[in-house]
Amino acid sequence: LGKNYIYFEEVNSTNLYAKSKDFPDGTVIFAEYQTQGKGRKGRSWISSKYKGLYFSIVLKPDIEVVNLSKFSLLFPYSVFKTLKSFTTTDLKIKWPNDLYLNSKKLAGFLMESSIENNIITKLIVGIGINVNQDIQDFPDDINQVATSLKLEEGKEFSRKEIFLKILSNIEKDYLNFLKDKYLDIKNIEKNLLWLGENVSIYEDGEVIASGILKGLNGDGSLILSHNGTEEIIYVGDLSLRG
Ligand code: ATP
Ligand code: BTN
Repeated sequence: LGKNYIYFEEVNSTNLYAKSKDFPDGTVIFAEYQTQGKGRKGRSWISSKYKGLYFSIVLKPDIEVVNLSKFSLLFPYSVFKTLKSFTTTDLKIKWPNDLYLNSKKLAGFLMESSIENNIITKLIVGIGINVNQDIQDFPDDINQVATSLKLEEGKEFSRKEIFLKILSNIEKDYLNFLKDKYLDIKNIEKNLLWLGENVSIYEDGEVIASGILKGLNGDGSLILSHNGTEEIIYVGDLSLRG
């Protein structure tokens, strides 16, 4: 990863840039600041200059699409494991693709895949992590729900050190996954936000399922239990809320 590395002081969005050309496998695009940082479903991602890590990785995995839910969990999980070594507080994985620290959003992932004949030919993994933001760096509408490593730990972190560890761990986890399609789903499950609690799944603003969050299936899908019956939720344009 990162043999082809593109660095911006400022760009619209590293994901948009990643899609603008056919970059080689393993390209990493990093920005200090994004003027149009993207969240899922057209929402925006606030990228305060020099305070966070905002980057996209271009991958050409050529694996079958049946592996997509599991595969897309690999990236939040890999970053989870890395950030765990930097924080002593309560880091959790919000299915399918956010990291929460002390019940607030620390990191988001925007995965954009290209699929041809049931093969994932390209995956752009966009990762945004709040590292050294102070509370005034977040606009009023998200400062109750967003947090940074600095806000929770009370000290500055080296963004470079975290970034390099993340890249090397993702590379390792990704290459292993290509070999055997294995992901430690049990350990992801143990670290899920709201495990054992009542949650709802939203699609286009409407609740499409509710129940107790039981855990994950081997393929990365979510298990909810409602009045004794189990419901399986597959990754899609869905929102999980506690
Ligand atoms: P869900 O993923 O469950 O649909 P979400 O709130 O996580 O809900 P996303 O689209 O994944 O929504 O993420 C974008 C949202 O993240 C924005 O609506 C905003 O509330 C929040 N957000 C934007 N920038 C940041 C940031 N730097 N840190 C934390 N949260 C942010
Ligand atoms: C989300 O939580 O909705 C996903 C947020 C993803 C943000 C990252 S920052 C780097 C990359 N470029 C973008 O425009 N978005 C992702």
